[in-house]
Formats: sequence, structure tokens, C-alpha cells
Amino acid sequence: MSSPTLIQIVDTARDVAREVIMPHFLTAQRNTKDDGSLFTVVDLAAQAALIERLPRIIDRPVLGEEMPESLQLRLWHEGQDGIWCIDPIDGTTNFINGIPFFGVAIAYIAEGRTRYGVVYNPMTDEAFYAEEGGGAFLNGTALPLRTPARHLLDAVAGVDFKRIPKPLADALATQSPFYSQRNFGSSALEWCFVAAARLDVYLHGGQMMWDFAAGTLIAAEAGAQCSMLDGEPLNMSPGQKTPVVVGANAALYREWMDWLNAHGAR
Ligand code: IPD
Ligand code: CA
Ligand code: CA
Repeated sequence: MSSPTLIQIVDTARDVAREVIMPHFLTAQRNTKDDGSLFTVVDLAAQAALIERLPRIIDRPVLGEEMPESLQLRLWHEGQDGIWCIDPIDGTTNFINGIPFFGVAIAYIAEGRTRYGVVYNPMTDEAFYAEEGGGAFLNGTALPLRTPARHLLDAVAGVDFKRIPKPLADALATQSPFYSQRNFGSSALEWCFVAAARLDVYLHGGQMMWDFAAGTLIAAEAGAQCSMLDGEPLNMSPGQKTPVVVGANAALYREWMDWLNAHGAR
């Protein structure tokens, strides 16, 4: 049984997606940030709705992707005892282009650890969620949904080539050690796909904390293991891009990491 707090977070993600995001699917106009990435007024409206609603569940500040970095850093330093971290639409490029794969990602973090994680896909009405120590679920069904591949050779790999060092990217493209590769365009949902064992392994060359804060807990609670490319634990802090390596279980993570190390990960 999930706790009332976790259920309230899932309900909030679903409500904001239904009321604020989905009415604008296929009509939202693209805008470009200083770093070249895209956003829409819908990302801003969804963030504003979550900033209003989440503190009703736990009365702590909300750090959102669509805030100035100076404000994110201030909130992060003030919020060590408890802070919400949100990506109001993860997969904005998909959302703008009408590709039905994007999600609302919500994490509650205290003392540097995610305590609650929720990622909601409004197109499929799939809510992935976990709380620390309580297991991970997809709409009430415990994750993973299947037994992951036995070996890397049989694995379906999520690989997002963004920011992967060139020697490693070349090796992945020309000598791939897995069975097949995917890149869906929403990192938060890709983490949940590892949790579900829809993906057996995963690699992204540089994620922001709102891309992985919810998904790391959901994946870990489903039995996945992860690190940065150098083998160190993930760096949770705004303003930093963190490479992530994930395996649906410890054996897959080890095999994946060994291959990456032998092909230019460090
Ligand atoms: C992006 C998506 C994408 C990933 C990028 C992220 P956004 O998030 O998760 O899959 O490759 O690194 O920035 O901008 O759609 O929230
Ligand atoms: Ca994102
Ligand atoms: Ca986003």
C-alpha cells in the first residue's frame, strides 16, 4: 500500500497534466532559451501550478527547471531539510512536435536523497511512483514488470547520445554490445522504463537533476543500479550536468559499466 503522501503527489501530477498541459497538445508554440533548448508557455504554466499545489502536500519550497539558475541555487541551499524538484514537462521537444511521449516529473528530496518520486505520462495514463524503502509501482503494479535480460548481449539499451564523449559514442555506434538501441526523448520516463525493465540498460551523457531526481528513486526501488560514467554516485545539484549509467539489476549494471570503461568512459 502506498502512503497517502505518495498518492497525493501522483494525483497532483495527473491533475496538472489533465488541466494545464493536455489542452495545449499540438498547439503549443516553441520558444528558445539562452542555452538553445526549447520551452513553451505550457511548461511555465505547469510549473506555476505545481509550485502552488505541491506545498499543500509537504510545505517546502519548489525548485523547477523553468526558473532562473540563481533562484534554483538559492532554493537548493535553503532546502537541504526538504525541497520539491520538478520538471513540469520532460520531453518538451516531443510535446511541441506532437510525439506522444512526455511526462511530469516530481521528486521530494531531503538531505540529498530523493524520498518520493513520481513520473506521469498523460498520453498513456501511466503513473510511475516510489517512496524510499517502499518499492516502485506503475499504476498499482509492482516494478519491474518482467525479468530483465540475462546478459548485455540480449539487452534493449536506452542510449541518448547527447554529451557522450566522442570515443565512447563512436564505439557505441560501431561496436554496440547490446541487442538493440532506443532513445525516446524524455529522460524521466526513460528512467522509469528501466524500472519497468522495458529497457535493460540506459546511458545519457549529461542530465540535469530534474531529469533524474524522481527516476533514480523509482529505478532503485525496482532493483536497478546506477552511477555516473566514472562509477561515482550521481551528483544532485542544480546547474550541473550529470552523466548517468543504469542497469535494470546489479549484474547488468556491472556488465554495462565494464564495457563502457573498456571503450572510453574514462
Ligand atoms: C530533455 C529530455 C531529453 C534529454 C535532454 C533533456 P526537457 O528534457 O529529457 O530526453 O535528452 O537532456 O534536457 O528539456 O524536455 O525537459
Ligand atoms: Ca527534462
Ligand atoms: Ca522540462
